[in-house]
Order: sequence, then structure tokens, then C-alpha cells
Amino acid sequence: MRNAPPGQRAAARGPGLRAVPVLALAALALAACDGADMVSQPKAKTWDRNGFFPQGRTMLQPVPGTVPRTVPNPPLPQPAAASAELLARGRERYGVFCTPCHGAAGYGDGIIVQRGYPRPPSLHAARLREAPAQAHYDVITNGRGSMLSYAAQVPPADRWAIVAYLRALQLSQDVAVASLPPDERARLAARATPGDPGTPDDRTEPADRAQPGDRAQPGDRAQPDRTGGARR
Ligand code: HEC
Repeated sequence: MRNAPPGQRAAARGPGLRAVPVLALAALALAACDGADMVSQPKAKTWDRNGFFPQGRTMLQPVPGTVPRTVPNPPLPQPAAASAELLARGRERYGVFCTPCHGAAGYGDGIIVQRGYPRPPSLHAARLREAPAQAHYDVITNGRGSMLSYAAQVPPADRWAIVAYLRALQLSQDVAVASLPPDERARLAARATPGDPGTPDDRTEPADRAQPGDRAQPGDRAQPDRTGGARR
């Protein structure tokens, strides 16, 4: 009918023509119903006795060991022991799936965010540093707020790898100077005099680097853009 000339198309759309096949179908359907079989079909209701099954019941229990398609609380795959391989895998997967929003260093300034996507909280916020690994695993699995679930893209073992890397990332931005090995401490001392938040060198670094005071910001949700106009 699509290619029919306009006149015919209008006719086809008229109520009269369209009603004909509908009526014909209805008549057929009614004709089929006058057999007694269709009027009262045998059926068993949930709680009816039922001699057909050995248990004598209509509603049967699932066989032992049946796994429902939607398991409410499936056993969680346990995290693998931390290893260099696990962290490397986590870093790579984090790079693939998380950096677009959370940024390479986890400050919530990924490329999508720079283009207007809602800014995620900094992964270095105190609340997220203190949250148990399981909570981060759950966020990847189920999503949270405006973050979608990554369960389909990231299998459980990789989720743990990402969480392990996330921990390493957090540690990298939150180390007590006293806990650094002596050579690192010496390098640090050579770069900054006590009380000086940063040498000119530091200031040219990306905004992602931790600066003194970052940790104290509540929530870390809206970090001031320390690069000023540099990003535009
Ligand atoms: C498309 C952007 C996007 C991607 C990709 C993304 N996230 Fe998120 N993430 C968000 C946003 C936005 C929030 C804040 C959600 C909210 O609270 O509404 C968030 C929140 C979080 C939180 C904090 C949850 C909390 O308790 O507040 C964690 C942890 C997290 N994401 C981890 C990850 C990891 C790990 C990945 C990679 C597997 C990832 N995200 C990928 C956007 C993203």
C-alpha cells in the first residue's frame, strides 16, 4: 500500500475497508469457540490436588540444587592475593573502563567529565579511602547513582584487580613522608624546602597530582581546577 497512488491510499485508510478483515477474523474466532473443549479447558490451579504428579500437588518444588536465574545474593568471587600481575591487570583495566570519568589519577577529572559529564567524587576522598574494598567492588558490579554497572564489561576477577589498583592509586596519593624509604625522602627533601608547598617545577605538573591540603577537602567532590585555563 505504501506505493499506491494517493487516492487509493486514502481509501485504504478509511474505516470501512479496515473494518472488513477485523470483522472476518472476529467471526472466525467466535466460530472456533463454540466447541465444548474450548469453553471449558482442563487446567490446574496452583494449590489444586493433582494426581498427574507423583507428589499429588500441582505446584512443584524446584529440584534440589536448582539455581534461580536471578540469584539475589550470589556468592562473591573472593579477591586474589595482591601481586604485581594483579596490579598490572587492574591498572590496565582501570585505564580502559574507569579513566574516561575518574581520570588516570582518580581525581574525577576524566576526559568525559571535562566535556560536561557529571563529575565523580575523587577516589582520594577520605570516605572512599576508608571504604572497604568490597564497597568498591560493589560499585563496579552494581553501579551507583549516576554511574552505571560495569558488571557486563568487567568480570569479577578483573573487578578485584581494579579494586587492588584503586588501593595502590589511593596509597600513591596518601603516603606519610615518614613511611617513605630514605632515598625517596631525600629526593623529596631536595625538591621542596619545609613549609613550601611546591617548587615551580611542581606547579607545572597536571592537576591530578596530590598537593598538600587535598586530603583535607571534605568529599573532594568539586575540586577547584588548579590548572586554571590550562585545560581549555
Ligand atoms: C561514565 C563515567 C564513569 C565511569 C566510566 C566510571 N565511573 Fe565510577 N563514578 C561515576 C560517577 C558519576 C560517580 C558518582 C556517582 C554518584 O554518587 O552519583 C562514580 C562513583 C564511583 C565511586 C564512588 C562510589 C561512592 O561510594 O561514592 C567509585 C569507587 C567508582 N565510581 C569506581 C569506578 C570504577 C572502578 C570504574 C571503572 C570500572 C568506574 N567507576 C567507572 C562515573 C563513572
